[in-house]
Amino acid sequence: MSEKVYGIDMGTNSIKIYQKSAGVIVHQKNMIAMVKKDEPLALGDEAYSMYEKAPKNISVKKPIVNGVIADFTAMQIMIQLYFRGSRGRKGMEGLNSGGNAEFLIAVPHDITDVEKRAFYDLIASSSLKSRKILLVEKPIADALGAGLNVMDATGRLIVNIGADTTEISLISLGGIVQSRLLKIGGTKFDEAIQQAVKKTHNLVIGMKSAERLKKELASGIREEEERTYEATGRNLITGLPNRVTVTNHLIFDAMSEHMASIIDAIKFILEKTPPELSMDIMHDGVCMTGGSTNIKNLDLLIQQETGLSIMKVEEPELSVAKGLGMIMENPEYERLASTLQESSFQ
Ligand SMILES: Nc1ncnc2c1ncn2[C@@H]1O[C@H](COP(=O)(O)OP(=O)(O)OP(=O)(O)O)[C@@H](O)[C@H]1O
Ligand SMILES: [Mg+2]
Repeated sequence: MSEKVYGIDMGTNSIKIYQKSAGVIVHQKNMIAMVKKDEPLALGDEAYSMYEKAPKNISVKKPIVNGVIADFTAMQIMIQLYFRGSRGRKGMEGLNSGGNAEFLIAVPHDITDVEKRAFYDLIASSSLKSRKILLVEKPIADALGAGLNVMDATGRLIVNIGADTTEISLISLGGIVQSRLLKIGGTKFDEAIQQAVKKTHNLVIGMKSAERLKKELASGIREEEERTYEATGRNLITGLPNRVTVTNHLIFDAMSEHMASIIDAIKFILEKTPPELSMDIMHDGVCMTGGSTNIKNLDLLIQQETGLSIMKVEEPELSVAKGLGMIMENPEYERLASTLQESSFQ
């Protein structure tokens, strides 16, 4: 069988591509830098290095917003470049493997049919020659990649806290019983940190600095001990570059409202869970995936608020991509991927 089978998880923050028999071959920022409206200059991590630093003639775009395709053209150009290689620019060598490939695309559950179809059209209307395009429910791939058995008649609760979104899903018998996509995730935390630093220290910082503060200081539970980290930005009053010391307590307060919203949504799904499946979740607990689950003590917060045990996975950003890999590598999971016609959204 051909090895030109690819699984794609188009995240808001990063794109992950799994190649059959090779594993995760791309894990790059999901960004593209363009000049003259639609001429690509850089892709992925290289484009991210230009983010918030580029002059006006270079636009750095994030084509996925809130888990859905917000800039179809930019996303399509990116995908084509990854598979086709490009015009010989540095960092854009591509995978050189476009022809006659099969694609498995992970698609969030709780979005509109039009939004779902766009993930299919992205490949179908591209210049890539595809043999087959299959769609996979993102929470199912996520759960498989996290090591859960999704095929049996046992309820599994999986919470993916990513960049723009938190997807909370209840799975049983290879299908989704219910799923909710919240527009809250790592980016919202970063924005809240940016606002708090501005308000408290009169310092305007970029999103990259805010993310750095989050990675250094964030915690799901308020810590007694004070920890600090330096942030550099522009003083709001003098307009000059400045550096301040930010505490973990400021970061906790900035993020707490969003963390509370995630907890509320998990409780909402639990309340709607049929009793037989509730019993399974009581027994097995909640599985946490997505890059934002790296936040210290976030598992502890969810455990305290729900009373359920928490399972954290290794490399939580990659579980969707790994799950796509499992679907393409194991015939027993074949039915978890469907064509556009077979799927409920046409
Ligand atoms: N150590 C860490 N501490 C806090 N946050 C982290 C850490 N590592 C990664 N993150 C956050 O994880 C997020 C990226 O996670 P992930 O790759 O799962 O998102 P995504 O799949 O691109 O987004 P989405 O699923 O929402 O479309 C970013 O917001 C990043 O800041
Ligand atoms: Mg994701």
